[in-house]
Order: sequence, then structure tokens, then C-alpha cells
Amino acid sequence: MSVGKGLFVTFEGGEGAGKSTQIRLLADSLRERGCAVLSTREPGGSPGAEAVRHVLLSGAAQDFGVRMEAMLFAAARSDHVEELIRPALLSGTVVLCDRFMDSSRVYQGVTGNLEPPFIEALERVAINGVVPDCTIIFDLPASVGLDRVRRRAIVANAPAGQEVELDRFEKEELETHEKRREAFLDIARADPGRCHIVDATVSASEIAAAVLAIVEPLLPKGDNAPETKAAT
Ligand code: TYD
Repeated sequence: MSVGKGLFVTFEGGEGAGKSTQIRLLADSLRERGCAVLSTREPGGSPGAEAVRHVLLSGAAQDFGVRMEAMLFAAARSDHVEELIRPALLSGTVVLCDRFMDSSRVYQGVTGNLEPPFIEALERVAINGVVPDCTIIFDLPASVGLDRVRRRAIVANAPAGQEVELDRFEKEELETHEKRREAFLDIARADPGRCHIVDATVSASEIAAAVLAIVEPLLPKGDNAPETKAAT
């Protein structure tokens, strides 16, 4: 279900899939085409949700169990939807969101072993009718993605030979990450109208072309075209 005149695109996949680079490239291409674009991310995106982000990614909530974590992700999502995403869509903006409800289905639902009705109930409350128009799932072997994450962390914060700091989810076993890859693919197979799988092992420019080919036909047209001013 579309909200307002805008377009809601979410980006999903395992660790190190290159989502943020691709969101940046797509945002640039869409702005060149005169679209108003808002790039955002989860957990976070609004002040309330950013406050919850640190609690989740630092692992501070891990001892309280996966149900508690799932509820915190949902609380952050609800704030993000109502404060930022819905108003942007209503004003005709193209919203590009790095992770959304499918990450909760996969990380807390499938690999967190939370029962589907619980995840579904949280999702309903959190998104409150704001379903993505299009979800792009970046697919790559978990080992490749984790290697990228580790290399990135070394460059960012660890001098040669020192242990790198990964977040609470990145630290999990390879097998868990492989399960997540399969779970994202299952979501795509179950909802082919919304979800598109993109091979994330090829070059950044090839991925960008594939992403643009998916999103461009969905851009609002005619009376529904967004204003030319960029939101961010
Ligand atoms: P982040 O640093 O934003 O990295 P990336 O999206 O590039 O992996 O980390 C977000 C982490 O939070 C990521 O490991 C996935 C996890 N996550 C969930 O477990 N459930 C969720 O609902 C969301 C949005 C994210």
C-alpha cells in the first residue's frame, strides 16, 4: 500500500552487503532526475530511534533477551515511521531506508527464534500501515560480507595487529549469518511483488545499475511527481 505521493524503498541483506554505498549512489541518481530524496536508516533515523540504536548495537540489551530486543527495534521503528518516514512520503519524497521490517523478521524472528505471531504483532504496531513499495535485498555469501565488515572495521578503528570492534550482531557465528541470507531469500520468494534480489558480489557500479533499473519505473509520475527540492 503506497502512502501519500512518495515512494518508500527499503534495502535489506546481511552484513557487509554494501547497502550504504548503494543508497548513496541511488540517492544521487534520483536527485539528478529531480526527485526529492530522504536517505535514512534503522535502527535509528529519528531522534527517539537514534537514542535506542546505541542500546541495541552495543549489546546493552542483549542480557534482557531477544524479546526485549525485538520490542526495542519495534519502538525505534514506530518513532522513525511516525516522525520521519510517513511525513516524508505524504509530501511526495522518495524515502530510501537502510533496513526496515524484514531485518526484524530475519534477525529477531528467524535467527532469534521468536514465534511468528509475536514478530507479526510487533511489525503491525511499528509500521502502522507504512509498508515499503519496494524492497531491495542484497544477496552475497555470509563469509564474503563478514570479511568486508572486518576489513572496514580495521581501517576505521584498529591499528595493525589489534582486535577489531564489531557490533553485537556482526559478532555472531557464520552459520547464523548464512541462515539470515536464506531467510531474506525466503522473504523475497514469498513476496515477489515487493522484493527484488540483487547480486551483491559484482562491482559497485553494476549493483548501482541493477538497483536503478528496479527503482526508476516506480518513481512517481505526472501530478504525483515529487518537488525538485532535495530533502537531505
Ligand atoms: P548497522 O551498523 O546499521 O549496520 P548494517 O545495516 O550495515 O549491517 O547495524 C544494524 C544491525 O542491527 C545489523 O546487524 C542488523 C540489526 N538489526 C536487527 O537485528 N533487527 C532490526 O530490525 C534492524 C533494523 C537491524
